[in-house]
Amino acid sequence: MKFLITGGAGYIGSTICSALEDAGHTPVILDSLITGRVEFTRNRIFYHGDIADAALVERLFAEHPDIYATVHCAALIVVPESVSSPYEYYQDNVSKSVEFFYTLQRLGYKRVVFSSSAALYDVVPDFMVTEEAPIKPISPYARTKFMMEMVLKDFCSAYGMKGIALRYFNPIGADPQMRSGIHVPVPTHVLGKLVDTAQGRQAVFEITGNEWPTRDGTGIRDYIHVWDLAQAHVKAMVDFDQVFERAGSPADSYLVINLGTGSGVTVLELVQAFEKVYGQEINKRFAPPRPGDVAGSFASADRARDWLHWKAELPIEQGISDALKWGEIRQGILKFD
Ligand SMILES: NC(=O)c1ccc[n+]([C@@H]2O[C@H](COP(=O)([O-])OP(=O)(O)OC[C@H]3O[C@@H](n4cnc5c(N)ncnc54)[C@H](O)[C@@H]3O)[C@@H](O)[C@H]2O)c1
Repeated sequence: MKFLITGGAGYIGSTICSALEDAGHTPVILDSLITGRVEFTRNRIFYHGDIADAALVERLFAEHPDIYATVHCAALIVVPESVSSPYEYYQDNVSKSVEFFYTLQRLGYKRVVFSSSAALYDVVPDFMVTEEAPIKPISPYARTKFMMEMVLKDFCSAYGMKGIALRYFNPIGADPQMRSGIHVPVPTHVLGKLVDTAQGRQAVFEITGNEWPTRDGTGIRDYIHVWDLAQAHVKAMVDFDQVFERAGSPADSYLVINLGTGSGVTVLELVQAFEKVYGQEINKRFAPPRPGDVAGSFASADRARDWLHWKAELPIEQGISDALKWGEIRQGILKFD
């Protein structure tokens, strides 16, 4: 089967492309390369351009009318940058995505999987969030994700589209076959920073906040291997119509599903697991929480199990070792200026 992946030149989109290919499917990538890497598009069907370029999207579907479903990963994703540059974030993640969804419905391509985020949940007392947990997006980035969920939901009820919003928790690791991984020169995510500290590109790893109401005082997250995440997308796209049947409400046109492991790991536990896999201690220190930090959350993964027939398989240690491996080889794969 053939699928459109917007943002397919990015970290998660390119991993989804690999997972689709390994399962015998054909990804078609639409990516502007605003942050993505041309290296991840090699030997793949690739349209270089913007999701809001309706003429390009029309040409893409005219040339690939057999696309079964679309996964919309394209977005800007750096939370602090969204605080300092909200215009760019609302433009890229909201305005352009609205145009893109409208083009999809106009052309009759009505199956959409949307990359959403656990960043839109409020903190709950036991940190485990179901899809019904209260929403409180605290950054412009998280608000763009929430807004696009609402837009997709409204488009589904008005235009006969069907949408599945997948709320990702904290993706880590790299493609186990090392075809792709984190590509930004300076990682903003916790594991990327650990790898950079271990490999000497960063002097010290800061554990930001150690007075949260968690078991050891550090923040709690749900680290999910990016390969597991990609497999969940394969399920959502290939079984798209069945997922609605399994949800027990085929009349519903919009579903929300958490993608996490179902268990929480504190930052301190992550650092300890990292040191165990790496085989030595890294230079680390405690620091105050950054503005906007929260204690965190982890997923209730029951809905993903029941509706997608998927669960995360890979242990956190593999996420760490794949990230380390990728950190060593990526300079040879990606050309940084
Ligand atoms: N990485 C995470 O921790 C995380 C967590 C939750 C949700 N997500 C979501 O997953 C998706 C993918 O994230 P990622 O980590 O792979 O990011 P990424 O930056 O690696 O990939 C995003 C891709 O989208 C492309 N893009 C951005 N705007 C575009 C536009 N207007 N037109 C065409 N292409 C455009 C970029 O060039 C890039 O290749 C995003 O929607 C993000 O919000 C990511």
